[in-house]
Amino acid sequence: MGYISGQTIKELREQKGFTQAQLAESLGVYESAVKSWEENKTYPDIMVVEPMAKVFEKDIKEIWPDAFEIRVDETPTTEDLAFYVCPICGNLVVSTHGAYVECCDLVLEPLAYEQPNAKHNITANPTEGGYHIRVNHGMSSVHYISCIIGVSQKGYRVAMLDHEGIPEADIMMEGLETVYFYCNKHGMFVNPIEA
Ligand SMILES: [Fe+2]
Repeated sequence: MGYISGQTIKELREQKGFTQAQLAESLGVYESAVKSWEENKTYPDIMVVEPMAKVFEKDIKEIWPDAFEIRVDETPTTEDLAFYVCPICGNLVVSTHGAYVECCDLVLEPLAYEQPNAKHNITANPTEGGYHIRVNHGMSSVHYISCIIGVSQKGYRVAMLDHEGIPEADIMMEGLETVYFYCNKHGMFVNPIEA
């Protein structure tokens, strides 16, 4: 199990005949971000994975086999989880048990959590084996929900969202306790799920 490696990005970029600068431009990130991914110094934001797959004309699963199946083996509690967003490249990092997180030569601080409000809230409906989560929020290219993260006693799962689509995802895990979602303008929201 693993995230997209720098080697994979480099190979796919070269197959496509792109320079680092060209890939960066097509993904809306800095060239330095692509360079640092390829050197395994930082990792691409999960929000970049889908656009990257499109640029490479691959299915997300082909470049990241574990997409939507991220989980940790330890038992995180909500307090253990921390989220970081790089203000320069927009990279989102999820960590457990605290971490030293650096991106674009900046040390990142964990995000504070916002409480749901009239414009940022979710509807959670139980399904077989999980929950269907819908974030009640508009979507546009400049103001969007980038991901939905479900947390239970057994781990967490991340669903990346298409910025132009409906902000919803099926989080296939039993005992979902908390759902986080990230609005690019208003921050990370935390939503407890009623048992
Ligand atoms: Fe928002």
